[in-house]
Amino acid sequence: MIRGRRAGRTARGGAPRRRGATRDGDRGLELDAVRCAYGEAPVLHGVSLSVAPGEVLCLLGRNGAGKTTTLRAVMGLVRPCAGRIRLDGRDLIGLRPHEIPRLGVAYVPQGRRLFPFLTVEENLRMGLLVQRRDAGTLAWVLELFPALRERLRQRAGTLSGGEQQMVATARALCANPRYLLMDEPTEGLMPAMVQTLAETIRGLRTRRVGVLLVEQKIDVALSVADRVALMEQGRIEHQATPAELAGRADLLVRYLGVARS
Ligand SMILES: Nc1ncnc2c1ncn2[C@@H]1O[C@H](COP(=O)(O)OP(=O)(O)OP(=O)(O)O)[C@@H](O)[C@H]1O
Ligand SMILES: [Mg+2]
Repeated sequence: MIRGRRAGRTARGGAPRRRGATRDGDRGLELDAVRCAYGEAPVLHGVSLSVAPGEVLCLLGRNGAGKTTTLRAVMGLVRPCAGRIRLDGRDLIGLRPHEIPRLGVAYVPQGRRLFPFLTVEENLRMGLLVQRRDAGTLAWVLELFPALRERLRQRAGTLSGGEQQMVATARALCANPRYLLMDEPTEGLMPAMVQTLAETIRGLRTRRVGVLLVEQKIDVALSVADRVALMEQGRIEHQATPAELAGRADLLVRYLGVARS
């Protein structure tokens, strides 16, 4: 069911348990009434959402809605002025940015941010450093992105944009995360690569990785998401399943400014 207007703000009492969230230590990633500002300018006005293990939540909204800021708040890169962010019940606000990946949250920032002078393999090994055990992880990641095998010795800065995006996603997965935050990972990718990435995201369910995905391509978002959160001006205005949204073109027009054929 599509919740009422500004439903996200009603979740102060804690988000309901989602599919797969069965134990206290398995409660997922939860944001509760998070507020953020850059200097004097408020940007998030009480964002509440949750991602359960193995669930894909897609965050959609127009430019400037606050999607990137939401992900940065989870990663400790911007400090909320109010609200709570919890991982399996543990508070993340106040932790330093390097501590959060160690708890199992990986981040693929908008615009990739690789180390351009390092090789592909060196970039991936930076991801492996986050976790204590790396046995099998690199092999698993290279199975997901076989094209990278031939590029391991190439400097990341010389890869095509699409290849760099693959490396950025692969590097995040090298941390063997329980939650993966991705900010517009399909930006600039050709359709075949978009499909590869979408399949990879769908495949993470079997490893119980929860995904918080910011995505501008609505068809991709609806094809990978278990739930979609529509954000406008720093608030989650609606949450719905893709099937529910398919019948609500009005919402897509209203919050994203697009008509879907
Ligand atoms: N470092 C910053 N300093 C000041 N204002 C910022 C900063 N980063 C973002 N903002 C502002 O905060 C608002 C939300 O930005 P944010 O990057 O979170 O939006 P977004 O939803 O990710 O947009 P897009 O779809 O364009 O990536 C915007 O108005 C932006 O100008
Ligand atoms: Mg953004």
